[in-house]
Amino acid sequence: MRFTEHPDLEPLTDGELADLVEPRPNIVLQALRDPWAALARVLARPAVVNALFAYAVQRPFYTLYHEDGSIYMTRLWLLPRWCLRWVDDNRGGHYDVRSWVPIRPRLHIIHTPDYDREKHDHPADYRTLILDGYYVEEDIFCVKRLLRAGDTEKRRAQDFHRIDSVSPAGVLTLFTFFGGKRHTWGFLLGGRKVPHYDYAAAKAAAEAA
Ligand SMILES: [Fe+2]
Repeated sequence: MRFTEHPDLEPLTDGELADLVEPRPNIVLQALRDPWAALARVLARPAVVNALFAYAVQRPFYTLYHEDGSIYMTRLWLLPRWCLRWVDDNRGGHYDVRSWVPIRPRLHIIHTPDYDREKHDHPADYRTLILDGYYVEEDIFCVKRLLRAGDTEKRRAQDFHRIDSVSPAGVLTLFTFFGGKRHTWGFLLGGRKVPHYDYAAAKAAAEAA
């Protein structure tokens, strides 16, 4: 469950987006320097995106919602069914990954920005490849970076950030954690990390003080 604070976020204007675009090198040169970057550009081709989506849409993980019930993130496994097990829930069921599976790639459809004002970290290191659309990420220094279809980034678990803006139809990414769980994820509140399960109470307490 995410916390709804900023349901009225405005998408970036075309001019603001253009200012954030970074030029890309020739794909062959890029492949020599950073194979992940070249792979992201190949996977972001429409025919590949369509094939990946057609495969993953039959393997839904549970969906994340905002506190007001609106949809935040659709998640789909990019794994064969023998790596997954079916779990009944109150939303029609979903697949979970079997515990022995070492890599756990998923497609994520991020429908909205992160509504939380505070930045969060993640439980493990991760890699994301942008397949369709874009998002603008704000790091711990409040520096904004545009990630668009064909871009990729690798982040450490402790890298605090938030998604500030997404393309109007949402953004499709290929996401995977790697390296195992490092810590309990949480939010940066008043210069201190608060575990995600304490965030709502800590934020309410901070606002009341
Ligand atoms: Fe995040």
